[in-house]
Amino acid sequence: MEKFVVTGEVQLCGKIRVGGAKNAALPIMAATLLCSGVSVIHDVPYLSDIKAMQGIMTLLGAEIKREGRTLIIDSSNVHRVEVPEQLMREMRASVFLMGPLLGRFHKVRLSYPGGCAIGHRPIDLHLKALEKIGARIKEKFGFIDAEADSLIGSEIYLDFPSVGATENAIMAAVLAKGVTIICNAAREPEIFDLQTFLNKMGAKITGAGSDTIRIEGVERLVAVEHTIICDRIQAGTYLIAGAITRGDVVVENIVPEYLVSVIDKLEGIGSVIQVGENFIRVRSKELRGVDIKTLPHPGFPTDLQAPILSLLTMAKGTSIITETIFENRFKHVDELMRMGAQIKVEGRTAIIRGVPKLTGTKVTAPDLRAGGALVLAALAAEGTTEIEQIYHIDRGYENFEEHLQSLGAHIIRLNS
Ligand code: UD1
Repeated sequence: MEKFVVTGEVQLCGKIRVGGAKNAALPIMAATLLCSGVSVIHDVPYLSDIKAMQGIMTLLGAEIKREGRTLIIDSSNVHRVEVPEQLMREMRASVFLMGPLLGRFHKVRLSYPGGCAIGHRPIDLHLKALEKIGARIKEKFGFIDAEADSLIGSEIYLDFPSVGATENAIMAAVLAKGVTIICNAAREPEIFDLQTFLNKMGAKITGAGSDTIRIEGVERLVAVEHTIICDRIQAGTYLIAGAITRGDVVVENIVPEYLVSVIDKLEGIGSVIQVGENFIRVRSKELRGVDIKTLPHPGFPTDLQAPILSLLTMAKGTSIITETIFENRFKHVDELMRMGAQIKVEGRTAIIRGVPKLTGTKVTAPDLRAGGALVLAALAAEGTTEIEQIYHIDRGYENFEEHLQSLGAHIIRLNS
């Protein structure tokens, strides 16, 4: 078990470059299973979630090599269509394998991913979408069997614009006969990246990035080369790190349009933001409270709710955060209160009364983004903070401490 030890009150200054997005890389890795051949995926981040996905795909018969930031995936010998229960539990994103395996082999068996730290996270929308295009789904004893004689294009309406359900539906529909329309689709940039990748493979998809996606089924796909889009959540976290430490941070290699809602809130908090073609610079002195509601893209991302909540604990006045996406995403609140924050949670709302300073202590990362949020709080807090269970953070923040050190942060990784 490792932990971070952070000595706070250092203003972060400098430039940082973010790499490819985990949430784009995971579905694209799964999508390579849709054809037989060697796919080459560039700028795949070094993260434990990516490693876990590699492990599962290898078990299914894929041969995967990493050369630096490039993954070379040979899916020619994929023969298994069953994801073992233990692996399914370890990584929820293995649910992405359902669409591609069903599309290519017309058969898939998974165990139910169950809940996770941030909430219940059902997959009913994924299953409903797959049923709409002809899959017969049986759920028994926690296992899901999906089979189809052939997949037929259809109209799919999602009750909620779920990112994963949209991606799974697209991946299952690319090889279906006829046209599939997904209504009320999620609009996240990672879905657009999946569309770009699949279209390179020979798919005919339009509309990703809007709420209506049209997929004209094709007979076969070919393996291609692709570069993953930048990670807007890591980028947003470093911007918030700059703001919470009253520093001056430039985040490079990003698409500023992906972060419009975050830029807006940082400005509301009092930061000065400069936007270039592929960078954002944040400078902060005084912080003031704002109200934030998490929403599907292009609204404020739920994955940055915890990091910005850390910032608001030290902003002047009262802030209200409403979490509308996941029901259990305030687990960082108790830990922040141990550091001196004043927060009251009522259902899906957190009311934050800004305090002049936080004080370092021992805290535990409850999940990935909440863990990132505790590191940000520690960077601004007086004294030293120890953050335990940082394996959560390693799932989604690449070289977190090295990046923060390059901005001047005093953070080290130690064995607990
Ligand atoms: C993805 C992201 C995650 C992000 C989330 C919301 C990946 C690997 N993960 O997760 O980082 O926090 O989008 O932006 O891309 N829901 C249902 N039924 C379903 C599916 C979802 O009720 O079948 C609900 C969920 O419980 C949740 C909401 O829909 O309340 C949003 O979930 P969804 O968009 O599916 O998130 P993920 O794809 O799991």
